Amino acid sequence: MFEMKGKLMKTISDVSALFPTEGSVPERHALTAPLHQQSYLVKGEIRSWSGPAQDVLSPICFRQGNELKQASIGSYPLMGEAEAMDALAAAAKAFDKGRGDWPTMTVADRIACVEKFAFRMLEKRDAVVRLLMWEIGKTLKDAEKEFDRTVEYIRDSVEALKDIDRASSRFVIEQGIIAQIRRAPLGVVLCMGPFNYPLNETFTTLIPALMMGNTVIFKPPKLGVLLHEPLLEAFRDSFPPGVVNTIYGEGQKVISPVMASGGVDVLAFIGSCRVANALKKQHPRPNRLKCILGLEAKNAGIVLEDSDLDLAVKECVTGALSYNGQRCTALKMLFIHEDVIDDLMSRLVTAVGRLKCGMPWEADVNLTPLPEPGKPGKLAELVEDAVRLGGRVVNEGGGLHAGTFYYPAVVCPVEPASRLYCEEQFGPVVAVRPFRDVAEPIRYVEESRYGQQVSIFGRDPERIAALVDPLVNQVCRVNINSQCQRGPDVFPFTGRKDSAEATLSVSDALRVFAIRTLVAAKADGANKELLSRITRERKSRFISTDFLF
Ligand code: G3H
Repeated sequence: MFEMKGKLMKTISDVSALFPTEGSVPERHALTAPLHQQSYLVKGEIRSWSGPAQDVLSPICFRQGNELKQASIGSYPLMGEAEAMDALAAAAKAFDKGRGDWPTMTVADRIACVEKFAFRMLEKRDAVVRLLMWEIGKTLKDAEKEFDRTVEYIRDSVEALKDIDRASSRFVIEQGIIAQIRRAPLGVVLCMGPFNYPLNETFTTLIPALMMGNTVIFKPPKLGVLLHEPLLEAFRDSFPPGVVNTIYGEGQKVISPVMASGGVDVLAFIGSCRVANALKKQHPRPNRLKCILGLEAKNAGIVLEDSDLDLAVKECVTGALSYNGQRCTALKMLFIHEDVIDDLMSRLVTAVGRLKCGMPWEADVNLTPLPEPGKPGKLAELVEDAVRLGGRVVNEGGGLHAGTFYYPAVVCPVEPASRLYCEEQFGPVVAVRPFRDVAEPIRYVEESRYGQQVSIFGRDPERIAALVDPLVNQVCRVNINSQCQRGPDVFPFTGRKDSAEATLSVSDALRVFAIRTLVAAKADGANKELLSRITRERKSRFISTDFLF
């Protein structure tokens, strides 16, 4: 089932040997020159930055003799409070208390801008995909998938917005009151995405926020900044001035003043609870601030004794290790029934051993270097702690690391006292715990700080149903015989507890970035005539029965 694609990692030298020398990167995947970004977008202008800059180091190291050195791939502006406040002022002016061109534009015209942007974005596919590989170590295949999925998301959002608008393009009459009900924008949105899906997860908030008539300040994640640079001109040329503004720099310098000013109406943030909570607290008017948050998760996989073990192993390995386990939806704790633990572990270890390690552009590569600074050391600490408390690394070479590469460690049994049991590893560590009574994994999910998803593996309808019923009230998606995942993007994506606030999907995202507002009048003759004339003579953009085809 898992073909042998790579060689087993047995020593640190095997791991070091995965990295290329500077001259050995295939030409079509190499970065021709470092990208020193000096541009940022504010008020519809691409401005030039000559202040301090942040060097960008790639997770990809070059071998130099016995040393591994992270490739230096460019830099981006380290802006300050003044520039951040300029961006906020530009977004506020473009919104203009709801009277700006953008929030009052017809849905058809807004859609035309978004479609223009998507068209221009496609021209930059190669540049963005290459930067995804070099900035965050995503495999070529996954980087292409992230780009294409994002364009698809934009297209689907256009269709979803048309549907919403069509449903609102009529009057309703209820209890003698005539009304037109629509969704209106909320104001200035601060969008901040995560490093693991820097393009997709940023755009799955930014695009719906824009489509609903909000104006945006957008700060890329700390890792995964440069890949947005090729899109700046497309933003500038597709939207009216001030509708999209970008800021770069340290959160405390650029985001804190923006939040503390009280000028942000919506915080769309995907990242850690710690940062989300700090940002929320900085806002002086919590009731005005709407939060759309995608946070942490520790999704469990529960493998029952009657599972199809080949299938369970395949799903658990991809669930735990695709993009090196750096997905919020990754399976981060596996509970395996004691009756099948030996069989399953031997298959799991074999499957992990067959994954190919290497650089993002290599054919069929599964595991790549990690972008977060110091991550291999942090994972090693987590594994050491689990081992000290009774766990064992059961795969050959598990946990070997060199430079930015960490070879997956499969740890079993993970004891409840260890950090790995409840902390989100967000990396290539497969945590396993045998169980006898299914009450144990259920309790685990119930007691977890998180509540995003769970995967259950088994064949008995009665037992699966008995697990589904308690778990659906603990998490927001129960996956049967498959790994956890966000897609398809039309499905609701959210979480309970410390995992999320608000629901995202193609159509839900459009709803969360808007508020329902209506115009109502007693259905008497004079009002009917008034509303008819406004509609017939097209006096208002809100009171309108135009149908969007
Ligand atoms: O990091 C969290 C992502 O939303 C996960 O998305 O399940 O499609 O990889 P995915």
